[in-house]
Amino acid sequence: MLGTLLGGSFGALFYAATFSPANALENGVGRLPALGYNTWNAFACNINESLVLESAQLMVSLGIQAAGYQYVNIDDCYAEPTRSSSGDLVANTARFPNGMKNITDQIHALGFKAGIYSDSGWFTCGGFPGSFQNELRDATLFQEWGFDYLKYDNCNIPFDDIIRQGMLGKYTRMSDALIQLAKSSGQPPFLFSLCQWGWEQVWLWGSTLGHSWRITGDIAPNWDSLALIINFNSFITQATDFYGHNDMDMLQLGNGGLTFDESKSHFTAWALMKSPLLIGTNLAEITPDILGIITNPEILAIHQDPVVGKSVSPFRWGLNPDFTSNSSFPAQFYSGPSENGTVFMLLNTLNEPADMFFNLTESPWIRAGRQYSVRDLWSHTDNGTAVRNFTATNVPAHGVVALLLKDAGDEPAGIFPPCAVWDNCAFENGTAAN
Ligand SMILES: *[C@@H]1O[C@H](CO)[C@@H](O)[C@H](O)[C@H]1NC(C)=O
Ligand SMILES: *[C@@H]1O[C@H](CO)[C@@H](O)[C@H](O)[C@H]1NC(C)=O
Ligand SMILES: *[C@@H]1O[C@H](CO)[C@@H](O)[C@H](O)[C@H]1NC(C)=O
Ligand SMILES: *[C@@H]1O[C@H](CO)[C@@H](O)[C@H](O)[C@H]1NC(C)=O
Ligand SMILES: *[C@@H]1O[C@H](CO)[C@@H](O)[C@H](O)[C@H]1NC(C)=O
Ligand SMILES: *[C@@H]1O[C@H](CO)[C@@H](O)[C@H](O)[C@H]1NC(C)=O
Ligand SMILES: *[C@@H]1O[C@H](CO)[C@@H](O)[C@H](O)[C@H]1NC(C)=O
Ligand SMILES: *[C@@H]1O[C@H](CO)[C@@H](O)[C@H](O)[C@H]1NC(C)=O
Repeated sequence: MLGTLLGGSFGALFYAATFSPANALENGVGRLPALGYNTWNAFACNINESLVLESAQLMVSLGIQAAGYQYVNIDDCYAEPTRSSSGDLVANTARFPNGMKNITDQIHALGFKAGIYSDSGWFTCGGFPGSFQNELRDATLFQEWGFDYLKYDNCNIPFDDIIRQGMLGKYTRMSDALIQLAKSSGQPPFLFSLCQWGWEQVWLWGSTLGHSWRITGDIAPNWDSLALIINFNSFITQATDFYGHNDMDMLQLGNGGLTFDESKSHFTAWALMKSPLLIGTNLAEITPDILGIITNPEILAIHQDPVVGKSVSPFRWGLNPDFTSNSSFPAQFYSGPSENGTVFMLLNTLNEPADMFFNLTESPWIRAGRQYSVRDLWSHTDNGTAVRNFTATNVPAHGVVALLLKDAGDEPAGIFPPCAVWDNCAFENGTAAN
């Protein structure tokens, strides 16, 4: 749809100018996209104290914590079906026999922060009590329980004549409660993760309320789901920067359904687009392949870039005309700035291997007339110096190439044409050169 509406230079102008994270909630928490673990994708409601603690211990013993993952998050279904007589949420006594403070103490003792879940409506998506009209009460309890992070869902929304608010107002209720709680308790604010997939509004105002906001429905462990989310996010990458992140949903790695190359593409796109990275794998059964993917230090370094918060964005769609929205065949050529140079992501959306070529100056962050050293962020090798262009050969079906290009000085003299962009180029005496 966007593809038919936006053409040529008007499209490019609209794309660059519309999105700004200027209103981001800069409260000191969540400047960089979160890195952690969440129980939902692998276990749904089948969670308990021993599972959460074993997962946290595995994060340590498998080296996942050392790679930078900080959060251990409990999703839905931790609560009893009804509130206590005094109105508080109650942790499920069978699943969490020692209570929530006991488990967060152990999570903290392992060096992690702890995350919990609630819902902005009457009930959570799993049918447990929601936080509507109990926002400050529940936030206070979550803090007493020792949690640092709140994922806030969007099920069972009250009727308009009760809430008298749209989606923004509904989420503001909890955002306000978290701010009030931080002020009154003197403790750091919760990291607030909005699980709100009514995307039309969220990427415009999400950053005023929290660390991240969901952009689509739930991820599934198959390529179609990845392609849909990447295509969607490719149009709104400008909404992401420090303190505000398009949430592409949790990592579906190792849950069946993705090939090794698709798994690399999944992790690369999520990381370089600066989405929160929450592992959704059963860590007791994780394979060396998946462990290697989620701990890739060069990809994680860009995700956690302390100097540049921007996402990669497409510079050429490739297979389809620029600005084509196609849920099965998203844009293929992306780049973005980083502390150490320009990051490129090449996504082979075809069902067969392909060579992928780009001119360096197709990326706005490249300087014409300069050459660039090429670092391959998956093979962890220096791949020579690129002059004018680069070709990745034989990129696997649904596979990815991630490169870091660093300025390596002036390009060799005498390369033709004298302007990389051979348009409106002129001799010093004013004669057009093309
Ligand atoms: C805890 O949950 C895990 C994963 O669902 C399950 O395998 C295990 O049996 C459960 N343990 C207890 C004590 O319920
Ligand atoms: C958690 O509960 C168990 C069982 O009662 C107890 O042995 C342990 O000391 C508690 N740990 C913390 C950190 O409270
Ligand atoms: C930049 O390079 C330095 C030195 O190699 C490295 O420590 C840092 O993580 C890199 N930053 C990014 C964002 O890749
Ligand atoms: C998506 O792009 C592919 C490749 O160009 C094309 O074959 C397909 O028809 C497109 N799908 C839609 C819905 O436009
Ligand atoms: C790359 O640059 C060459 C030489 O200027 C030009 O002919 C070609 O069209 C460019 N290709 C792309 C994809 O920009
Ligand atoms: C790529 O750049 C080189 C100069 O380094 C040039 O000779 C070659 O023609 C370019 N390839 C394409 C396809 O533009
Ligand atoms: C970079 O070089 C390594 C080692 O030769 C190779 O495995 C990898 O495929 C190269 N990367 C690209 C994008 O060509
Ligand atoms: C301008 O300079 C170019 C390159 O030296 C030359 O080929 C061209 O004839 C000059 N044009 C005029 C009008 O002098």
